[in-house]
Amino acid sequence: MINYVDKIPNNVDLGRDRVLQRALEHWQPAFLNWWEDTGPTESRAYEVYLRTAISVEPDGWAQFGYVRMPEYRWGIFLQPRDEQRQVNFGVHKGEPAWQEVPGEHRSTLRRIIVTQGDTEPASVEQQKMLGLSCPSVYDLRNIFQVNVEEGRHLWAMVYLLHRYFGRDGREEAESLLARRSGDADNPRILGAFNEPTPDWLAFYMFTFFTDRDGKFQLCALAESGFDPLARTCRFMLTEEAHHMFVGETGVTRIIQRTCDVMKENHVEDAPDVRALGVIDLQTIQKYLNFHYSVTLDLYGSDVSSNAANYFTSGLKGRFEETKINDDHLLSDATYPVSEVVGGKIVMKHVPALTALNERLRDDYIREIESGVSRWQRVIDKAGIPFRLTLPHKGFHRAIGNFAGHFISPAGEVLTEEAWKRNQHDWLPSPQDYSYVQSLMSGRVVELGKFAHWIAPPQRGINNNPVNFEYVRFN
Ligand SMILES: [Fe+2]
Ligand SMILES: [Fe+2]
Repeated sequence: MINYVDKIPNNVDLGRDRVLQRALEHWQPAFLNWWEDTGPTESRAYEVYLRTAISVEPDGWAQFGYVRMPEYRWGIFLQPRDEQRQVNFGVHKGEPAWQEVPGEHRSTLRRIIVTQGDTEPASVEQQKMLGLSCPSVYDLRNIFQVNVEEGRHLWAMVYLLHRYFGRDGREEAESLLARRSGDADNPRILGAFNEPTPDWLAFYMFTFFTDRDGKFQLCALAESGFDPLARTCRFMLTEEAHHMFVGETGVTRIIQRTCDVMKENHVEDAPDVRALGVIDLQTIQKYLNFHYSVTLDLYGSDVSSNAANYFTSGLKGRFEETKINDDHLLSDATYPVSEVVGGKIVMKHVPALTALNERLRDDYIREIESGVSRWQRVIDKAGIPFRLTLPHKGFHRAIGNFAGHFISPAGEVLTEEAWKRNQHDWLPSPQDYSYVQSLMSGRVVELGKFAHWIAPPQRGINNNPVNFEYVRFN
């Protein structure tokens, strides 16, 4: 029997909700087995300096202290309810926000929640082995923080399934623990979550690009007319910011280190840079191209009747829906999408309702662009003539209007043969991956020390010094 108040911090009155308790009695041990099986390898005895959410109050959502990860208190938190909240878009606009699942949208809503929920454990699985090659104790703590919080995000979605979807919800919650990232028979639902995360550059790229897709999806769901979903996602967003911080600063520190070494040694060519044991900027560009393009696919087809349906029925809004100044119905509006016609990329206007995936993707791209320009500043400051660029939206896409076409990073439509001839100039080759792997053959655990290929961070976590004992290995 679980002591709910102590073990599962929550603001959903779990102590008095018998139905939820019974569902969790099954699921919580299964979750721990999943963590044991797929969580960070060899980490069970470590005491890790982690933040835990114990309430939604400003002083409660980030409580820091040493925790053994299997004993992490995965909690259930929703942003407090606003009694006045309405459905803010679609045909139900102006109705009070729904506190129970509207019958006619039940299966759609369940699918949306399962698809979001499936990404959370997937990334933990993808990152399982990385602790063995961490560049510092500081970074090790950060990946563990991301991992336990993705675990909590799974809990958040499972809470909704258990509380609002009865038996089907319980079955879906079990399936969330059964699928495995990259598994041939039972993979995770979305493509990017089945890609391996083989090294720390890939990890930082993933948290910069793919966790940010998470942010935009959560923002769209935080607008939902189904109030418990909206409130759950709002609270998840508080945690997501740290994941993207880990990614952005991780890549910044790698670029910084490379630039420092290039300048000190007066080298510019990739082989010379590699000879000095740091990651050449060309390889960083290729990783960027890969993670950006597979993440763009996560937004789905450019033109989608599902997306239109989610919006019209009030289930999934646009990014910052309530700040947009329009009718929130999109009855007459249009939106530009690209397609490939006769070997050329052309723009066409389609009903905005059907282009909501593309719109969310564009919102995402804008935020990515400013992040990449911050990376560029590090290179510029070092006076190195190299430009990091985002590839064309159509590059290396498997979903939507560009799927099946061969687009170069510059946006030219190529033949398959021409594209393939150049692919290793654009995407990491097996040799690139093995070079990066070769730098990360062991882990750095001496306090305050960092691997040769990455600069230390500007500051530590929670006002602690950079050389703080973020992990006790025992
Ligand atoms: Fe998440
Ligand atoms: Fe995340």
